[in-house]
Amino acid sequence: MFSTKRQVLAGCMALAGVLGIFAALAAEAQAMTIEEEAAYLVSQMTLEEKIGVLTGDGRYVPGFVKNTGDGGKGMILEDMRSQVILPRLPRLRTTAMSDGPAGLNREARKDDQEDFQYTTAFPSATCQAATWNMDLVKEIGDAFGNEIREYGYELILAPGVNLHRNPNDGRVWEYYSEDPLLSGKSAAAMVQGMQSHGIGATLKHFAAHNQQANRHHYNPIISQRALRELYLRSYEIAVREGHPKCIMTSYNRLNGFYTDENVELLQVLTRQEWGFDGFYITDFDGKGSAVGKVRGGINLLMSGSQEEYDELLFAIQNKVLDEKLFDERLSKYLEFKLSCPYAQGESITANPDLEAHAALARRTAAEGVVLLKNDNDCLPLKDTQTVALFGKTAYSLIPYGTGSGEVRSHKRSLSMHDGFKEAGFKLVEGMEKDYLDYVEKIKRENLVPDYFNNPKMRQDNGIVGDQSPPHFRGRLVAFSRERALSREEVEDYASRSDVGIVCFGRSSGENYENGYLPITAIERELLETVSDVYHSAGKKVVVVLNVSGVWETASWRDLTDAILLAWLPGQEGGGAIADVLTGAVNPSGKLPDTLPLKYEDLPSAPYYPGTPKEEPINSFYNEGIYVGYRYFNSFDVPVAYEFGFGLSYTSFEYSNLEADKDVFDGSIAFSVTVTNTGDRAGKEIVQLYVTAPMDALEKPEQELRAFAKTGLLQPGESETLRFELAGRDLASFWSGISAWVADSGTYVAAAGASSKDIRLSRSFTVAEDIIVEKAHDILFPDYLMDELSRRK
Ligand code: BGC
Repeated sequence: MFSTKRQVLAGCMALAGVLGIFAALAAEAQAMTIEEEAAYLVSQMTLEEKIGVLTGDGRYVPGFVKNTGDGGKGMILEDMRSQVILPRLPRLRTTAMSDGPAGLNREARKDDQEDFQYTTAFPSATCQAATWNMDLVKEIGDAFGNEIREYGYELILAPGVNLHRNPNDGRVWEYYSEDPLLSGKSAAAMVQGMQSHGIGATLKHFAAHNQQANRHHYNPIISQRALRELYLRSYEIAVREGHPKCIMTSYNRLNGFYTDENVELLQVLTRQEWGFDGFYITDFDGKGSAVGKVRGGINLLMSGSQEEYDELLFAIQNKVLDEKLFDERLSKYLEFKLSCPYAQGESITANPDLEAHAALARRTAAEGVVLLKNDNDCLPLKDTQTVALFGKTAYSLIPYGTGSGEVRSHKRSLSMHDGFKEAGFKLVEGMEKDYLDYVEKIKRENLVPDYFNNPKMRQDNGIVGDQSPPHFRGRLVAFSRERALSREEVEDYASRSDVGIVCFGRSSGENYENGYLPITAIERELLETVSDVYHSAGKKVVVVLNVSGVWETASWRDLTDAILLAWLPGQEGGGAIADVLTGAVNPSGKLPDTLPLKYEDLPSAPYYPGTPKEEPINSFYNEGIYVGYRYFNSFDVPVAYEFGFGLSYTSFEYSNLEADKDVFDGSIAFSVTVTNTGDRAGKEIVQLYVTAPMDALEKPEQELRAFAKTGLLQPGESETLRFELAGRDLASFWSGISAWVADSGTYVAAAGASSKDIRLSRSFTVAEDIIVEKAHDILFPDYLMDELSRRK
């Protein structure tokens, strides 16, 4: 499946005609608007040709052979131009597209390849969200968009904007947060940055794609309210504020119907309510019928198949599918093609500023680090201290997760060890060699990683004996067993260092339920020994987590003095972690997710991944609107670290929470002043939570309604942050009348350093119920649900 997909993507990158001809044709086409030209092209094609373009982007046009430059195998071409599909209509070309969201996904460099075009592996979406710095996320989008454009691509299959419902989902690292506001704002910023280069960004996977178990078919059953307030809300914000040119539907069903066949979802909600004006692409090789997809609203079927082609041809010839509707769907897609920079006659320069992008990746990774614990100001390290780095991940960074989101074409993955070396820190001699030998052994012996000890995964990956399947060989280190150390070995390292840093790593990826693999026995034993040996000698222990998302920390955190959560930080990760540990950067990230005490505490745990567990069909989202902190804070369930939490090497004081009015009249504005009261420069994220009255509809205890981050405040310096709330920011979704309503009563606006650390609050009122926005009565779950309620 994976190789087919790559071939299709790569096929889309095939060579086009001569540049001069393009320019002339572009000039000629200028007489028409893009819409007119798209309709004209459609009118010039036979039915077979039209179906061939909508199915797999030209792959099935009779007689069309992809010029893939490598004998038809579909490898990416050097100059990245797309290819003319029909010689008599030379402006009709395949779209050059590739995957994200952590960077442009291209083939890895082969040993003998000269002049290789490197791309940048940026920090994961979750790490970006942990910065809460939307300007920075936009900058990443801008740099990413620059690489897309410079290398001749036109469409990027990113960003992903599904909510973090459960950390087992292997794709969590591709998505932002458990909160729809933080997710939606991050995606909007990313899309704006990317599209500022004229290319198209794709929101995916629409919608409610929250697990990998039976990912092609499972059926999430979600109430209208939870859908509107959570799972669709992140998309709504991203569409309304980011204006993406494309949305990719998900594989799964939703309340009974495949998302890519769902008119309510694809037409009524997005186009009519949200004003989406782009085109829809299916996820690759999704199930469901081709006719259903075109009727539903799909403009491009990917990867496309001969069966889909035949089905559409038969349906149109037999009047099951209206050709006029088909033409409209195709035209919409062609409008996108014609609007791309290369269709406008621009040439490819292939010269992105990779150095600047690497620096940006490092800055973002450092700003995304969340400092979870720092007893007695153990951090930052002093440059006189000698450091011992334990754990294979300290020598072999995990920059990103696996699957279509892998980057592969980046120049380097800077390990923590090399990051420390570059920073000029003293490290224990010989330790690097011991660990690198171990890493080499894992690769050389090619043993099945621990992770594959699961019969289903073994079967899915064709593992017979002890050897890893070929497609997993590059990832062995991330998933293999930690190096076990004897007490004597730890004592030896400890005798030659002042501080012990233990690094734990976890990758995760598409197609697998592997997002949450808790600490193993070997890791725990290592940490216990390091903790005991170092603490007996009066030395400190720090843990660094290079993990894809939510991780269990409560059972081992007492063994350490400090904990740093660095996520999957992209290619410069090791340098960014070193920047925070050494104090070159003062940590300012905060948690985009709640870290529970244990997995079973998660509100989705009893229902995830649906029934039957092995191959779930129905997946009831019975926790309803109580996802993440909305649950933990409403039901007083203790957590390890709450949503929005993160420490700094300095401290901040909040003062003067002011509102411009006491009675809401369609808008209300707040301001709060933040002062750096410590002795280091630092940034602070202020979160504005609103508690709404419970008299009519029940509500979560509090909901994030706005957030802002200060600039770098010097000791003693203050900044006043402002927050504007409109009707939708107060409203809940009343399913019975299909409307967003702000209930009358008293509201509390609270400025917090986290969802629990509320520093200042003040109340205001809504005089009478306000119907802020009417919506359509769509996406009703025709199933008996037993949703969680505070009133039961
Ligand atoms: C993934 C998408 C990806 C596509 C193309 C699918 O399997 O779900 O996220 O964009 O493949 O690689």
